Order: sequence, then structure tokens, then C-alpha cells
Amino acid sequence: MLMPQIPTAPVAAQTITEWAASYPTLAALLESGLAPAQAALRWGLQLLKASAAADAILVFRAAAALDPNDASIWTNLGVALDRTGASAEAALCLLRALTLAPQQADTWLLLGVVRGKLGDNAGAEVALRTSIDLKPDSATAWQCLALLKERQRDYAGAIDCLGACVALGERSAAILANLGKLYYQTGRLQEAHDAYERAVRADASNPHFERMFRKARFLRDVLIGATVDGALATYMDHLDPLGAVEAREQMAWLETAAGLLSGWGHLEPAIRVCRKQLELVPSSASARYLLDVLEGAPGLSRAPDTYIAESFDAFAEGFDAQLVGVLGYDVPQQLCSLLLSQLEAGRKYAVLDAGCGTGLCGLLLRPIATALVGVDLSKKMLEMSERRAVYDELVREELTEYLGSQPGRFELIAAADVLLYFGDLGPLFKKSAVAMRPNGLLALSIELLEGEGDFRVLSSGRFAHAPGYVLRLAEEQFELVRTVDTTLRLDLHGRVPGTLFLFRRRA
Ligand SMILES: C[S@@+](CC[C@H](N)C(=O)[O-])C[C@H]1O[C@@H](n2cnc3c(N)ncnc32)[C@H](O)[C@@H]1O
Repeated sequence: MLMPQIPTAPVAAQTITEWAASYPTLAALLESGLAPAQAALRWGLQLLKASAAADAILVFRAAAALDPNDASIWTNLGVALDRTGASAEAALCLLRALTLAPQQADTWLLLGVVRGKLGDNAGAEVALRTSIDLKPDSATAWQCLALLKERQRDYAGAIDCLGACVALGERSAAILANLGKLYYQTGRLQEAHDAYERAVRADASNPHFERMFRKARFLRDVLIGATVDGALATYMDHLDPLGAVEAREQMAWLETAAGLLSGWGHLEPAIRVCRKQLELVPSSASARYLLDVLEGAPGLSRAPDTYIAESFDAFAEGFDAQLVGVLGYDVPQQLCSLLLSQLEAGRKYAVLDAGCGTGLCGLLLRPIATALVGVDLSKKMLEMSERRAVYDELVREELTEYLGSQPGRFELIAAADVLLYFGDLGPLFKKSAVAMRPNGLLALSIELLEGEGDFRVLSSGRFAHAPGYVLRLAEEQFELVRTVDTTLRLDLHGRVPGTLFLFRRRA
């Protein structure tokens, strides 16, 4: 078990005497009449202040050896250890301090932060809440608790904590903007608007706060019935008339806005935004498709290639930050570990990352690949994959077409979050069977269809499928190895349920 590393008292006393001979600061503290432990504590604090945390640790250890019942020595040892990254030992020292002085709100706060770094979220929350109980007006403790909640993607909890922080008078632009971001992420648009407005008032020079304020205001205005023209005029009011760059930015924003509104279930405002997009750029594939989806156009059996290319080109730069960072997307990890669990140790395979996107699966598949190919329709997503430098070949082509043109080439195919863009999966299974060698493995994920039917297009433009439908289609060419029920990502309504499938190509 990890224990704080403290020398024996005689060794500590001897060491302090030797240090005093070389370091006048310590010698002066001792000469002023302080006991050796207290002199060492003061000197350690000076070292800590001068960013010499490693030296401070040695000094605090000696002080703790001489006066093990002084809580402040343990607290400062904990702080210094944490600064050098030794968070586990830091937590022990802070706990030792709290055993001696349990009413120290600030030490509970430090312990909460350190436990958070160690990934002990439950322990961190207990410590932070104890700190708040002892010192209810500590905005810092509420802020730390908010950060913890945000890291756990408990956005409602994080909002409550930041709200408490603001109520205590903490009104810095950064806190208000963070509150605005959380409201925005959870679709609480009036509150997002208000928080960003206050952030801009607190710091008018921050362009990000200002941009987010304009976005929140646009969405709020459209939602409460303003015309898209009116909301757009306010959104772009600092730029009239628009240059070519601004006009492109405006279109990109309208696409994002339509996606956000439909994702939050505000279908009528989303339809109005799509119509405006088409009025401005009649060839916009993403607006056309989303409008068809939202208006319930009959016969939608997959997302058009033009829509996929256009929307993922626009999303490529922010994909990892939004999906992985905000929405907790880890299907690549889940799917690849399912695939890897069935492989012979040490063997390598011909692998296809189908719909490779930014290359999140490629990173995980590289170690087991003799050759790793990524295929995708989006040029910008392929550029992101290219940057990872893990693929032998990256191909810009429609997936079904590509599979059909590579008979017997692959031993493993992974399709993470790709079938969401196909409704009818028949052609995809047929062509996967063409491209796959006998006994090859096919790993894929689907979003789970709630209710009747084989598949249905959702207001997000993605398709959800019934597991029974997937099994039925696969049956002819593939045998099922395993299915896993899982969470694909988070959205406004909570977890998005999905299923992972692993199939083996029949010999
Ligand atoms: C949600 S992303 C997932 C990317 C990656 N598999 C991952 O898990 O991070 C879906 C990707 O599939 C691609 N895609 C969708 N339909 C496609 C199709 N018919 N042909 C090729 N790529 C397609 C998109 O361009 C996008 O990059």
C-alpha cells in the first residue's frame, strides 16, 4: 500500500541541520527561534512559491517527520506532491491532514481536486461537497464541482453548480461563458443567450464569447418565432453587406443551426432554416436532405452521397472535439475491442476501415493490420485520417461501390457509426460479402430503432435499425459471432442506445 514517504525524526533533524549550514534562509528562520519543524515548513512554503516544488517536498517531508501532528505540514506536502504529478501520495497526505483537522474546508477542496485527477470521481464529489458544507460561500468549491460534473458529462449537474457559483457573486466572464456553453449544449437557448450576453458584457474583447452570444441569440430568436431573415440580420449585423467569406460562414452556420434545432426536436424552426439555406444556395445537398427528412418525404432509404460529403466536410475539423469530447463517443474503442477479442494473437490481417472518418478506428486497427485501408466519401474527413499516418491507403469513394470493386480483398472490416447513414442495409451486406474473404470478420454498429419496422430515418437525418432486421439481412452470407447492447453517444435526451454486431463471413 502507498504510504507517505517520511524519514525518521533523527534523520530529519540531522538533514535540517545540514541544510541550515548551506541555506541562509533556513538558518535565519531557525535563528529567529522557530522550532525546526516550523522553520522547515516556512522555508518549504517559500520554495513552493518560487516554483521549486520538488525541493519543497523534501523539506516538508523533514518537517512532517519532526512534527507529524501538524496538519498544515501534511496539507502543504500534499500540495507540493500534487504539483509534481504525484497525486496518489498527495491524496494520502491531504487525508492525513484532514484526520488531524477535519474542519479544514480548503483541504477538503484540495483533496477533491486531487481525487478528480486520479479519476476517483465519487471520492472527489464527497470531498468537494464536504468542503461546501463547511464553507457554503466558497464559489471555488462550486466551480470545482461543476468541472467534475462536466467531465462526467452530467451537464445538468454542472449547470446547477455553476449557477450556485454565480449566485455567490462569482461573475467572471469565463464562468458566465462556461455556463452559457452548458446551457447551449443542453438546448436551453434562452438561458444560453442570457449567460453569454452577461459574459460579453463582462469581457467585450473576447471574440469567442461574442460569437457564441450571436449563435445563441439566433437560435433563441428562431425558436420563439422570429423570421429566419430577421434572426440572420441580427446574427450578421456587424457585416453588411457580406463578402464571399462571410456568405460561406453564414451558410455553414445555417447548416449547423438546422442540425441543432432538429436534433433538439424543434422541427418547425429547423424546417424554416433549411428553406432559407435553399433560398440562398439552391444546390445545398445538406439542406435538401434535412428538409426531406423533416417534412417526411416518402421513400428515403439512405442519405445521399452529396449530403454525406457536404455535411462531413463541414464537420471534419470539429468532429473529434464534439463527438469524443462533448458527446462521449467511443464506438471505435468498443467496436475494435469486440473485433480484437476474436483474433489470433500475433496474427495480422488485411483490414478495411469502412467510413473511416477522422481515423479513430484506424489508430486501433493499425497494430493488427498487414494492410489498412480507409474508405470515406468526405474529402475533409479523409484529410483528418491522413494526418494520423496509420493507413496504407485512403480511398475517397462511396462505400458500397468500393466494397463491390474489391472481391476477396479483406479479412476484417470495421464500420463504426456508418450504417447510420444507410436505411436499407441489403446492398451493403451483399457487397461486404463480396469484399470479404471466407471466415473474415465484419464488425458494425447500429443506432437502435425504438418501435416497429426494420429501419426509420430520424430527425437528425440518421437511420435507426431493428437488430432483427440486421440479423435477417446478414444471415445468408454471415454467421453471428456476438452482439453487444451499448450506448453510442450522449444527446440532449441522454444516452443514445445502439447495438454492436460481429459477424463471420460464411466459408
Ligand atoms: C459518424 S462518422 C464515423 C467515422 C468513423 N468510423 C468513426 O467511428 O469515428 C461516419 C463516416 O462515414 C462516412 N460515410 C457515410 N456514408 C458513407 C458512404 N455511403 N460511403 C462512404 N463513406 C460514408 C462519412 O463521411 C463519415 O466520415
